[in-house]
Amino acid sequence: MLRLERLRADHETALLAFERENREYFARSVPDRGDAYFAEFPARHLALLAEQAAGTCHFHLVVDEAGELAGRINLVDAEDGTADLGYRIGERAAGRGAATAAVGEVCRLAASEYGLHTLTAATTLDNAASAAVLRRTGFTVVGDTVLNGRPAIQYRRALDGPPTGR
Ligand SMILES: CC(C)(COP(=O)(O)OP(=O)(O)OC[C@H]1O[C@@H](n2cnc3c(N)ncnc32)[C@H](O)[C@@H]1OP(=O)(O)O)[C@@H](O)C(=O)NCCC(=O)NCCS
Repeated sequence: MLRLERLRADHETALLAFERENREYFARSVPDRGDAYFAEFPARHLALLAEQAAGTCHFHLVVDEAGELAGRINLVDAEDGTADLGYRIGERAAGRGAATAAVGEVCRLAASEYGLHTLTAATTLDNAASAAVLRRTGFTVVGDTVLNGRPAIQYRRALDGPPTGR
């Protein structure tokens, strides 16, 4: 069973290795992070921890049954009970339901631990796997948007009930 670990300082090395290992894989569906991201990783990690401590973001690692880092799932820009969801699952764990399980768990945490009542998410039109994950975890389409300069769909989920769909 997967579990989520809230981001900590000692996750830095494992996270950097995860991002390096999956850089090309992720770049097939989301914009590449760029060389500076990797060069400045320690400072960026500290900045994320500071944002999290301020309460505006909640960052998590997705850890599999063997204790391996399978992915990341984050809630950002928390304000007035609403936050924006983002996630990425590494190539080695892909296609086995990790993203679906992680979204379900972060929705539970969002309501029970972080005091949120609504999550938003967006995915580009060509990211069918991410759209499938959102549909299966109870997100509904609220309209068109633009993500990273590309046409995208905006989703929303209220957290006051169990997920629907699948
Ligand atoms: C999108 C992503 C999170 C999915 O992670 P995952 O753990 O493989 O997802 P799951 O296994 O929970 O579910 C994937 C679903 O998408 C479906 N899927 C995968 N590729 C697909 C494709 N090309 N077209 C249609 N459906 C697809 C799978 O069949 C599965 O649905 P099913 O179980 O009903 O068959 C992962 O591929 C990823 O991190 N990609 C790069 C970063 C990214 O795109 N993040 C999201 C940005 S909005």
